[in-house]
Amino acid sequence: MNTYDLIMKKRNGEILSKEEIIYLVNGYTSGEIPDYQMSAFLMAVYFRGMNYEETTLLTMAMADSGDRLDLSGIKGVKVDKHSTGGVGDKTSLIVGPILASLGVPVAKMSGRGLGHTGGTIDKLEGIPGFQTSISEEQFISQVNNIGLSIVGQTANLAPADKKIYALRDVTATVDNVSLIASSIMSKKLAAGADAIVLDVKVGTGAFMKSVEQARLLAKTMVAIGTKAGRKTLAVITDMNEPLGNAVGNILEVKEAVECLRGQGEERLLKVSKILACYMLIAAGKAKDLEEAEKKVENAIKSGDALEKMKDFVNAQGGNPEYIEHLEKFERAKYSLAVSGRELMEHSDLCGELDEAYLASCDNQEIGMVSLILGGGRETKDSVIDLTVGIQLKKHLGDCIQKDDCVAILYGNDKQRLTNAKERFLNAYTLSANKIDKNPVVYEVITEKDL
Ligand code: URA
Repeated sequence: MNTYDLIMKKRNGEILSKEEIIYLVNGYTSGEIPDYQMSAFLMAVYFRGMNYEETTLLTMAMADSGDRLDLSGIKGVKVDKHSTGGVGDKTSLIVGPILASLGVPVAKMSGRGLGHTGGTIDKLEGIPGFQTSISEEQFISQVNNIGLSIVGQTANLAPADKKIYALRDVTATVDNVSLIASSIMSKKLAAGADAIVLDVKVGTGAFMKSVEQARLLAKTMVAIGTKAGRKTLAVITDMNEPLGNAVGNILEVKEAVECLRGQGEERLLKVSKILACYMLIAAGKAKDLEEAEKKVENAIKSGDALEKMKDFVNAQGGNPEYIEHLEKFERAKYSLAVSGRELMEHSDLCGELDEAYLASCDNQEIGMVSLILGGGRETKDSVIDLTVGIQLKKHLGDCIQKDDCVAILYGNDKQRLTNAKERFLNAYTLSANKIDKNPVVYEVITEKDL
């Protein structure tokens, strides 16, 4: 077997065998196959695709490239969740405490943000003292004690994915269904949970721009999980604008806590609750959606989920007083408001109308606004500013008057704030006519839909 022949085989649209896929994954992980050959192979996959069988084999080879976490020391059905990536997505910080307060053990490994998307681990590091890197023994004993731990991914969990993902990022081969599905599922399978609930994002801030593409990705991942013996389902949710009001690490932690207090933004609460419901059902703690909804509502209303958040922060070295008193969090030095008038002037509607509707949002651009402010990474080694970000006051479909505040940008550098504002204004379009709001949840894909 040699790499040249396998690149040519895929370039010609042929199907690769198990041995061939393992040869490529192991060869690249060990350094025997160079970047230029793996890049050519990934581009061949990008254009020729892989069938379900090949995608599953690729996933398994990547999951087997490093350690597999053994969660057998944790009592109960362990349920994991994973989002395909978005802007303002802080659902793990809401869903984790809800589930743990309802007796479902959540042992979660999360990632950092890259490019325009945010990551749970960066957000948690906004809580003073919070440790995202703890030993495996501590991780397991914390889940047994309080029901929840969220940590950064260990270096040897699916190392093939780590290397291949970094290469995809610089070779324009990220947004391919087989490559995304195998990347996500290899990590989820290696992370050891019994059941997996996937949040597949669709829209301008997601890798999948249409519901058809998102459905294909969802089905591929559910098929892989099911084949690997894990109960797996996917919820397709909207990412045509940021999820919730806050974008930026500390701002998002605060918004997650507000949700746990029952005061969060409507769309964010809706996505968080539906994910929590399906996780509860997957864990066998609710027989149907109706029962799950009641339990999830009660976890918030009773204050149990909020208490669990404090226990979780405390257990990982963070100061729980910050959760009690959100005003304690560090803030950015400067803020800059965006008014309805400025948005209208930008879209040439000013002068013609006194009000307009927010019609569309280039959500990837909103992610870039946060990045410009310092809240995201341009390279893997960039140091991020946890205090900066965006607080939205209006959402798609809302009517805007000239004097309305549409958003407030927070930053520590005035020039960056000015640049970020220009980019923010470019990200939206307005309409003189009323606009229907996008659905929050599009579809749920289970094993039965395959
Ligand atoms: N998230 C991942 O972990 N991998 C991808 O390929 C895309 C999103």
